[in-house]
Amino acid sequence: MSLHVRFNGIVKDFGPVRVLHGVSFDLEPGHVYGLLGENGAGKSTLMKILSGYEQASGGELAVASSPCRFKDSREAEAAGIVLIHQEFNLAEDLTVAQNVFLGRELHTLGWLDDTAMRAATREALAEVGLHIAADTPVRDLIVAEKQLVEIAKALSRHARLLVMDEPTATLTPSETERLFGLIRRLREQGTTIVYISHKLDEVERITDEVLVMRDGRFVTRAPTSTLTRQQMANLMVGRELVDMFPPREPVADAPPLLRVRGLSVPGWAHDVAFDVRPGEVLGFAGLVGAGRTELFEGLLGLRPRSGGEVELAGRPVRFDNPRQAASMGLTYLSEDRKGKGLHLRLSLSDNLTLMDLDRHARPWLDLASERRALDQAIAGHGIRTRDPEAPASSLSGGNQQKLAIAKVLQPDPRVVVLDEPTRGVDVGAKRDIYFLIQRLAAEGRGVVVVSSELIELIGLCHRVVVMRGGRVSATLDADHLTEEELIAHATGTH
Ligand SMILES: Nc1ncnc2c1ncn2[C@@H]1O[C@H](COP(=O)(O)OP(=O)(O)OP(=O)(O)O)[C@@H](O)[C@H]1O
Ligand SMILES: [Mg+2]
Repeated sequence: MSLHVRFNGIVKDFGPVRVLHGVSFDLEPGHVYGLLGENGAGKSTLMKILSGYEQASGGELAVASSPCRFKDSREAEAAGIVLIHQEFNLAEDLTVAQNVFLGRELHTLGWLDDTAMRAATREALAEVGLHIAADTPVRDLIVAEKQLVEIAKALSRHARLLVMDEPTATLTPSETERLFGLIRRLREQGTTIVYISHKLDEVERITDEVLVMRDGRFVTRAPTSTLTRQQMANLMVGRELVDMFPPREPVADAPPLLRVRGLSVPGWAHDVAFDVRPGEVLGFAGLVGAGRTELFEGLLGLRPRSGGEVELAGRPVRFDNPRQAASMGLTYLSEDRKGKGLHLRLSLSDNLTLMDLDRHARPWLDLASERRALDQAIAGHGIRTRDPEAPASSLSGGNQQKLAIAKVLQPDPRVVVLDEPTRGVDVGAKRDIYFLIQRLAAEGRGVVVVSSELIELIGLCHRVVVMRGGRVSATLDADHLTEEELIAHATGTH
């Protein structure tokens, strides 16, 4: 049942670019490993090689002491190795059950056995605590549900080595707890888990040992209990990280840049009111399902809204779509980076300027000006790429997030709404994003931050709006605000 894995000098080149420079380490059965490293360090790439989604350019992979080279993920699966993707790998047009059984459909007498597949899917969904019908199209799911389907799909494949690449980025605390329960059970059964996460508190809680990668190289390994979170962070970035949050600058007593009254998004948000002043960072806290994302999707015209008044810089506005909002001075970073934020098949520069084409068209597209904007974004946001012409899909997860942020700042907005801005980014890049947000506010813009990381809201914002069941349950000053207080308002137990 147990599976020993050895990486021996694994090298990976993408075209002329080497991203793994001879990585060697062993994985013992029945352990939970935390794989740590900055954005672009090569974690996902190494794990894709292990699970058959990528081919190594050099070096050797040995599974149970015999050299292996998996042609595709099916071969790896046959050897007991399954990867839960960081970027979901579900077929949007298929149902949940069809996705769970993709590539290994059940048959009876030569016919697809839909009944059996739906039943097995229901079981897998119950195990991860997801209450949806097995024949729901994946397209209709929200991101957290997609993540749970990915996990259910992997579990139903009975892996002996399970790689989880940022599995909790979109999960609620209770869904995360359930996942941790599953991980513990799997470990007891002798399954090896590789757990990739930038949430160091989770790494601290659930892993036995951490493995650290930096710039495509293996750096060190240590039992988790011997490291503090700060030490893990320092090992990842290779330097001391101090002061995660910039000092807050006071907000001038000016009229609001964004004023919202009585905004409702049927089914999600009801009668919501808030103001964002110039220079202010306004946070939105709440449990998943509290309606925060849907509220802003309604504001941006991405969902039907009913009623409500919105003023931008004193003028009544009503946005039909994000592009129109951008032209009026408000941009929105979607939490669903892959679905709504970036066009992964397009190049970095096309992505960057998509919302802001007018500025680069005079009257036809000015490629030099597009290129200048891209160079500035790459430098300004520390996006790690060696080929700006490459598609956005070639960026690591965290670097895609940085590109998405650069994209919403391109039109030079007066108000910017950032939904989960630091999802999937490493601690160093997180700090950079916090300082960027502070700078945007200091320039007199209004910044809205929707986040599930309470520490982030408390450290960054001037005020925090808490939503519960689609309504605003409190608007709190961030001074002296505690996590407990936020949780109490979010759950209604204060
Ligand atoms: N298909 C590809 N084509 C070209 N380059 C790629 C491709 N996939 C990954 N890379 C590059 O390989 C490097 C390592 O990326 P990888 O996704 O493994 O990083 P990571 O450690 O998982 O980062 P993150 O924490 O952001 O997810 C990055 O520089 C990335 O741009
Ligand atoms: Mg990754």
